[in-house]
Amino acid sequence: MTTATVTDPALDKFLHAYPSFASTRSLDDLRAREYARLDAGGHVYLDYTGGGLYAESQLHEHMALLADNVFGNPHSSNPTSLAMTTLVEHAREHVLQFFNASPDEYVAIFTPNASGALKLVGESYPFGPGDPYLLTFDNHNSVNGIREFARARGAEITYVPITLPEMRVDISDLDDALQHARPHGHNLFAYPAQSNFSGVQHSLEWITRAQAKGWDVLLDAAAFAPTNRLDLSRWHPDFVPLSFYKMFGYPTGVGCLLARKDALAKLRRPWFAGGTITVASVQGDRYYLAEGEAAFEDGTINYLNLPAVGIGLKHLETIGPEMIHERMLCLTGWMLDNLLALKHRNGTPLVRLYGPPNVDRRGGTVTVNFYTPEGRAIDHREIERQANRQNISLRTGCFCNPGGGEVALGLSAGELNTCFRSPGHEAHFTVDDFRLCIDGKSTGAVRMSVGLVSNFADVQKFIEFAMGFVA
Ligand SMILES: Cc1ncc(COP(=O)(O)O)c(C=O)c1O
Repeated sequence: MTTATVTDPALDKFLHAYPSFASTRSLDDLRAREYARLDAGGHVYLDYTGGGLYAESQLHEHMALLADNVFGNPHSSNPTSLAMTTLVEHAREHVLQFFNASPDEYVAIFTPNASGALKLVGESYPFGPGDPYLLTFDNHNSVNGIREFARARGAEITYVPITLPEMRVDISDLDDALQHARPHGHNLFAYPAQSNFSGVQHSLEWITRAQAKGWDVLLDAAAFAPTNRLDLSRWHPDFVPLSFYKMFGYPTGVGCLLARKDALAKLRRPWFAGGTITVASVQGDRYYLAEGEAAFEDGTINYLNLPAVGIGLKHLETIGPEMIHERMLCLTGWMLDNLLALKHRNGTPLVRLYGPPNVDRRGGTVTVNFYTPEGRAIDHREIERQANRQNISLRTGCFCNPGGGEVALGLSAGELNTCFRSPGHEAHFTVDDFRLCIDGKSTGAVRMSVGLVSNFADVQKFIEFAMGFVA
């Protein structure tokens, strides 16, 4: 008797093109065991750069810990407080270990999210008049926002451009900009290890290159950390902001600033708060900041959620960041190969990609716009509406990365200034005002991102969805 095996020709082609995918098959089992809600709900989740997904066991382990123990506000000497303090400090050590950061060199400061970590640096960095704040066009708004702290202190803000089609930085532009560190000044250079707009991975070699020229380096690892190993014994950025929900889905509300102790010592906090001081006096009008991370954790930290950070890190360690990375690359490669091959009958490509067309130095974030056979962009909101109907979760807009968006969509400084200076827009400017003002051009794009438990079917369903726009 012979048994017929049903083969999926697309899957066969995929496995042939990306043979290393086979070594990541245990993630399919993990998905079936721990993330069954995805398939039970018919979800095609392609928004890992927006937020990661948690395994059921992460919730159970955390809930059991809370249910079985009595925890008080940490940093007192009563038994419930001490129990909590121990777990908070375990979580802190675990974060350092996960990133291979020596406790002699780095501290881990818990924050509400990556933006909270960035704000800590922005508000405390000792910019003086004429000091430079250098950043890439490609940055999340929470990194762009530091420019307002810099500007308020008279610092000079310089953006290093990125260029289409790959949305990378030309190294000669960067080298030129890095020449302008001020001797004896405070020089801050900020860039993302991975773009949340295009998926580009900017070189980690820039860290030493910049530091050698007198810069403190802020490496935004929020979009990089979920599918890449960041080894802080090999790379030594001064400041690294992160959000844990992007790495393992749960908990939200906790992020971290990993800071080199030397760099942290330069920061000047603009205020003090509960938990950040050793002594503060009303009548004496003095306060003394605590040492190390304590000086940067304002008030009560999100203590009950911190054990869940350790649980999430353990989950990633059990799988292994290398396996997560390999799978992400295979699926991203397949998505790119297929999307870029889609053509209308008249030969016009269906999509325009903003970012690298293959898996060389990129992550699993793929951003495109869809076009009609006549070459007119299809409104990204329409793509999202149609994806929603098929239970495909993707993201549209500019993803809080306006520099990436402006370069991708070809919006010039002149056009933008005309819009922002038009009468009635001194203080208010809505997205609809913006759309109207740059009449005819796209104001956003469509972003798909794969991650921890993405599978072949997720990507293939999206490709089939995209095929529906071929005319
Ligand atoms: C590269 C990058 N930096 C910073 C952030 C901000 O993260 P959060 O919103 O968790 O503060 C994000 C979020 O998408 C991001 O992708």
